[in-house]
Amino acid sequence: MSKPPLTLYLAAPRGFCAGVDRAIKIVEMALQKWGAPVYVRHEIVHNRYVVDELRDKGAVFVEELDEAPDDRPVIFSAHGVPKSVPEAAQAREMVFVDATCPLVSKVHIEAERHHENGLQMVMIGHAGHPETLGTMGQLPPGEVLLVETEDDVADLMPRDPEKLAFITQTTLSVDDTAGIVAALKNRFPSIIGPHKEDICYATTNRQEAVKAMAPKCDAMLVVGAPNSSNSKRLVEVGARAGCSYSQLVQRAADIDWRALDGIASMGITAGASAPEILIEEVIDAFRDRYDVTVEMVETAVERVEFKVPRVLREPA
Ligand code: F3S
Repeated sequence: MSKPPLTLYLAAPRGFCAGVDRAIKIVEMALQKWGAPVYVRHEIVHNRYVVDELRDKGAVFVEELDEAPDDRPVIFSAHGVPKSVPEAAQAREMVFVDATCPLVSKVHIEAERHHENGLQMVMIGHAGHPETLGTMGQLPPGEVLLVETEDDVADLMPRDPEKLAFITQTTLSVDDTAGIVAALKNRFPSIIGPHKEDICYATTNRQEAVKAMAPKCDAMLVVGAPNSSNSKRLVEVGARAGCSYSQLVQRAADIDWRALDGIASMGITAGASAPEILIEEVIDAFRDRYDVTVEMVETAVERVEFKVPRVLREPA
């Protein structure tokens, strides 16, 4: 029986960003330099496939620093860590490498600078996400107030409404954040914000590509993990941009084929922590069932690269 035709739109950019690429390289180079085991505090990036591959090479993933021994190197994940974590590692004289994405570190520095200038911070972010915990943990308790939604802005009780600045998580929805920023500026006209928002280039570009792709698609899949903030935002952006079936899948095995019955066009993208091999796996699964024509929806070209820390570039 001949396969039904399917136009498969592929978003570009999609998948790995420069921060994720660097974080994975850091673990691989640490394993080469110091041998196994190398400890990693929290999933280095939010993707099970990546974590399992590194575990096979000798990385040991722990949630808290005290689960790692003093005498093995430890790496902090791309999402960033509260200041107390490197301080504790230093106190224990551990070898540690910080794989925090430089664009997250930039937000940490912003927060500190505002704090030194006597401003209290408002962070727009998701409660409990490691990046939010890490960024809020750059300052003493009470110095960073968290808002997740526009409604939260009305409940804020700052120390001095005239002395406020805001920062954001790097992986938020560009459109939702604009609404929250507008609500903050409306309630606190003197609040200071970043020159350019803290949402990173990779998050912005992936959302833009989805906005261009979604209206063409009967259905859309985002390859990514359920704990990946930027992947979940892509699902929402796709639905809002006009694709009524917008779903997250970790791998091809998660595809609900029955729900896709009768489609003629399909959009595929991937969160910043999803490796291309998983995207290929999903595309191959469609090729097995459909006569696929691939069309690229490219809205930006990325050339960002981040260097790994010097300690890993030096010989052992
Ligand atoms: Fe960094 Fe943005 Fe990726 S903050 S880790 S470049 S999603």
